[in-house]
Amino acid sequence: MAEEEKNQQSDNQNASADTQVTSSDSNTTPPVSQEEPQTSIAKDSSPEESVDGPPSKERRNFLKVIATAGGILGLTPFIPYGSFFTATLGGTEPVRQKIMNAETGSFVNVSDMQPDSSVIFPFPRTGDVEKDSEPFRRYQLIRLAPDLGGESNDASSFRIYSMVCVHMWCLWDYIEGREVEVNGEKFTGNIECPCHGSNYDVRDGLSHKGPAIKQSKPNDALPTLPLEVDENGDIWVLPPDTALEADGVVGLGRYV
Ligand code: FES
Repeated sequence: MAEEEKNQQSDNQNASADTQVTSSDSNTTPPVSQEEPQTSIAKDSSPEESVDGPPSKERRNFLKVIATAGGILGLTPFIPYGSFFTATLGGTEPVRQKIMNAETGSFVNVSDMQPDSSVIFPFPRTGDVEKDSEPFRRYQLIRLAPDLGGESNDASSFRIYSMVCVHMWCLWDYIEGREVEVNGEKFTGNIECPCHGSNYDVRDGLSHKGPAIKQSKPNDALPTLPLEVDENGDIWVLPPDTALEADGVVGLGRYV
C-alpha cells in the first residue's frame, strides 16, 4: 500500500507539474497577444508610410524652411546677415523700382529687349554694389519668344523669376532659342540650372524636368515678381507679395 501511495503521490506531482506547464503555456499567451500591439504598431506606422501623402509634404516643406534657416546661418560669415535676411524669407522690401540691367547699369526699356532674351537685375536694388550682387537679390527679366507672345510691348511679354534654383540654390540660365516640350506643348526658350539639370517652364516658373520637379509644392517653382510697363516703355517691379501662395520666397519656391 505504501508503494501505491508513493506512486499516487508521484502521479499527483506530475499532474501538478503538467498544470504548471499548462499554466506556464497560458503565461506565454501574452507574447502572442504582444504581437498584436506590434501588429497594431505596424498598422499605426502605415500612416507614416503615407508620409508621402499631403501631410508629409507639409512636413518636408517645414523641414526645408528649417534647412533654409540653417543655410542662412551657415552663410552669414560670407553674406551680410541683415541684408541677406532682408532679401529672403519673405523680407523683400515692398518697393516699386525700375529694373536696372546689372551688366550695363541702365534702366531697362521694352525697346532694349528682343523677344527670346533676358536681363539680370538686382531686387530690391540698394545702390550698394556688394548688396546688389548678392545671389538672393538676383532676378532675371525674360522677354518671351515670339511663339509665346513675346512680341507685344506690354507686360504680357515679360516674366521675372528669382535666379536661385529651388533645388540646391545654384543660379540658373535662360537659354535663348531652346526648343522644349512641356505637357505636349512645344515652345521656345527654357530656364536651365547647370548644377543638376532642373528645368523650369519660362511661362510660369514651374519645374518640368530634373530634381526640382520631384520636390513637393511649393518647392518646385521659382519665385516671381510682379511687373508693369509704363507709358515710356520702362519696366518696373511692383511691390511683391512674398507669400508662398503669391509671388513666393527666394530659395524656397512658390505655389503654382
Ligand atoms: S541646384 Fe539647380 S538643379 Fe540642383
